[in-house]
Amino acid sequence: MSFRINSFEEYQNEYTKSVENPEQFWADKAGHFQWRKKWDKVLEWNFEKPDVKWFIGGRLNITENCLDRHLAERGDQTAIIWEPNSPNEEVRKLTYKELHEEVCRFANVLKNNGAKKGDRICIYMPMVPELAIAVLACARIGAIHSVVFGGFSFSSLADRINDAECNLVVTADGGYRGAKDIPLKVIVDEALQICPSVKKVVTLKRTGIAVNMQSGRDVWWHDEVKKATTEFVAEEMDSEDKLFILYTSGSTGKPKGVVHTIGGYMVYTAYTFQNVFQYKEAEVFWCTADVGWVTGHSYLIYGPLLSGATTLMFEGIPTFPDAGRFWSVIDKHKVNIFYTAPTAIRSLEAMGLDFVKPYKLDSLRVLGSVGEPINEEAWHWYEENIGKKNCPIVDTWWQTETGGIMISPLAGITKTKPSFATLPLPGIQPVLLDEKGNVLEGNNVEGRLCMKFPWPSIIRTTYGNHERCHDAYFSQFKGYYFTGDGCKRDENGYYRITGRVDDVIKVSGHLLGTAEIENAINEHPDIVESAVVGFQHDIKGWGIYAFVIDEHGRTDTDELKKEIIATVNKFMGAIAKPDKIQVVKGLPKTRSGKIMRRILRKIAEGDVANLGDTSTLLDPAVVDEIKLGAI
Ligand code: WTA
Repeated sequence: MSFRINSFEEYQNEYTKSVENPEQFWADKAGHFQWRKKWDKVLEWNFEKPDVKWFIGGRLNITENCLDRHLAERGDQTAIIWEPNSPNEEVRKLTYKELHEEVCRFANVLKNNGAKKGDRICIYMPMVPELAIAVLACARIGAIHSVVFGGFSFSSLADRINDAECNLVVTADGGYRGAKDIPLKVIVDEALQICPSVKKVVTLKRTGIAVNMQSGRDVWWHDEVKKATTEFVAEEMDSEDKLFILYTSGSTGKPKGVVHTIGGYMVYTAYTFQNVFQYKEAEVFWCTADVGWVTGHSYLIYGPLLSGATTLMFEGIPTFPDAGRFWSVIDKHKVNIFYTAPTAIRSLEAMGLDFVKPYKLDSLRVLGSVGEPINEEAWHWYEENIGKKNCPIVDTWWQTETGGIMISPLAGITKTKPSFATLPLPGIQPVLLDEKGNVLEGNNVEGRLCMKFPWPSIIRTTYGNHERCHDAYFSQFKGYYFTGDGCKRDENGYYRITGRVDDVIKVSGHLLGTAEIENAINEHPDIVESAVVGFQHDIKGWGIYAFVIDEHGRTDTDELKKEIIATVNKFMGAIAKPDKIQVVKGLPKTRSGKIMRRILRKIAEGDVANLGDTSTLLDPAVVDEIKLGAI
């Protein structure tokens, strides 16, 4: 009944056990947690519907496992270290005892403001400890949190609030990101003009800018907590009750509300946190992801807190006040495990070693990478200059839908190979399929990455539309979960993710649907149609190339491009800003009206000599025009 893997041999044994008897395997792991009532049955599953349930009949509250369970043993240990945007502002530290109190207090605030079990609560906040407190307080009262990244615009925020029919929003007056102040409450106010379900807004004072408070709807965090006690008995939840919704982009226009449930997510995030990073007692763990993304959910909040770890939360950005900030924070807080994205590594590499040299970085023991393929060059730079060839790199492959890390080395245990995520974790059964759905057996093969067996934190549904969950993940290859990624398996059985095979692109590690960006661009009054594709970008991994048709024949092209960028900012957020915009007269379409993206991708890559067969196009001449104007 052990939770921790300590050697490669143990990994192999555990992996075998997990495949031969998954129910016994996961029941053992789940036994390490505090349940109000133990489950009656470990697993029921059907990938055709899909319908997956873990730890059926189990009763619990995840926050008792994140907080209460640790109080006796580590009440005075630091749970969260908070590093502010400005290095001159004071660091905050919350012990497990303090975090427990604050979560209970805010749970009371939510209750006092009408929230109850099953409600959806939207959290739109900067990276401050109150964000973690709000997330955990939702879980404590049995409400479903839906965290929306603070970089999304009012329109994206409104879509997400409406899709989940949230009745409460937790936000802040503003947030700091480097030299910028983001006026969060203004954005919330604008969104709420089209969000009828929201009855209350709790606002934290962070930047102190003036905000409008709508009477009856808006209350201040600091006023409300004064009225609340620090005692709150956690709501008893079912293992399969929803814990959170997190929106992610897909091939079609609207983002999908990925739903995770309590029991399985808890067991899997803690298990992967402890094993992948080989977290040791009293170490400081730093995941640089924003809580608005799944990495922040699973490895900034839940995984570490479930494990009684000390987790570092950073409010700012890697380049403020200069490009040495990450390294200075590592030295300042003696970070032992550092988990970031390839795009951050590449952009800091590009800034030069002078920003790294002043720092010792000798507290580091393990380095992690997540969110996109890490190219060999970045891998070596990371390992040499940050890890000083002393720290194993865990290249962790997973997705919002998988809840936790799926394919990854175990730090110091699995032999690494640059740009390979290496081996599946225990419980994970990957298969590679060809386009027709045939399983590619053996090694040295490349295909579409699918999973043939459920793991505890697999997506349960897409909120409010189960059909979409089926169509997006379980319909292409019957009986399998399809990841949307292409993948190679080398001669040693190591996995290397080659990238998306659908119409989503990973831009600076953020998953963006091309259709979603096109919809935003089409909001511009002069644009009748657009097509967005990705092109390889040295720093961001992928950049956004937009082909747009301007119906009014504007001659001020530069101005038009600026307006298009502003439109995308308004309807999606700055993360979706096109890098290149080309105004075209027509798009390459087949006779049935489908845009041939393959051709646009080639043009965006500058590979115009190899466009392939264009004979099925309705009007092959448009291609010549586009080729000429390519940027
Ligand atoms: C990509 C982020 C290569 C992949 C946790 C996946 C990766 C998508 C890696 C999910 C990795 C994530 N190597 N590619 N180590 N990690 N990806 O939902 O394309 O934001 O399908 O979850 O990121 O992105 P998401």
